[in-house]
Amino acid sequence: MPVVTFSIDGEQYSATEGENILEIARDHKIHIPTLCFLDGLSTLGACRLCLVEIEGTPKLFPACTTKPTEGMVIRTNTDRLKKYRKMIVEMLASEGNHQCAVCIVNGHCELQDLAYEVGLDHVRFPYLYPDKSLDATHKDFVMDRNRCVLCTRCVRVCHEVEAAHVWDIAGRGINCEIIADMNQPWGTSPSCTSCGKCVRVCPTGALFEKGAAVGEMHKERGFVKFIVNARKKREWVRVAPEDE
Ligand code: SF4
Ligand code: SF4
Ligand code: FES
Repeated sequence: MPVVTFSIDGEQYSATEGENILEIARDHKIHIPTLCFLDGLSTLGACRLCLVEIEGTPKLFPACTTKPTEGMVIRTNTDRLKKYRKMIVEMLASEGNHQCAVCIVNGHCELQDLAYEVGLDHVRFPYLYPDKSLDATHKDFVMDRNRCVLCTRCVRVCHEVEAAHVWDIAGRGINCEIIADMNQPWGTSPSCTSCGKCVRVCPTGALFEKGAAVGEMHKERGFVKFIVNARKKREWVRVAPEDE
């Protein structure tokens, strides 16, 4: 496979053509904040938290969907990037209802972690206080759309890993929201297997288990990469004795 050479934050690196900037940065312990990205799922470039600068263009590029080319000069941590990342978190905070003190994932929330990381101590934009629906019709889980940041991890894991494709996005702009099947109560979805994968990958308290109290809900997200890798290596395929 062809190899490309480029620089990140002043250091020279090379990588196989086709790898994206985020993967390469992580391999070399360079931290780039993310929200919609999850190892093992397809990349989407939805949240824009991972924006990087590329010399020679005023545009900013999402590291998770951009592949380096030969000689590219990439910067991941400039004042301009920090300003935009903070603004993105600020907009997410003002757009939903994120009252951490009464949230089931308080202390285990990726949006909360990002707010700390970018130094968000106040929000300059008016709070929208949306009045979105909460769906508690599933026997085990709840979907609170007020805490959804539309990262679509739930949509992707349900489609790509569980192959059930329960979730989709309906609406446009500020009215976008996650819906189950034909926009019906989750509990009536004939396609949901109740596997819980969507709940575990959700970065916020939008998806949670029934019965969990404030701050109790931990999310284990590494399982997606584990399953996807095991499938690629056919680790769970039984080999008949005569084939060995
Ligand atoms: S519980 Fe499993 S099948 Fe049901 S919506 Fe979530 S990921 Fe899809
Ligand atoms: S429910 Fe959670 S995983 Fe799904 S889009 Fe909203 S924030 Fe992302
Ligand atoms: S992590 Fe790259 S755009 Fe969301």
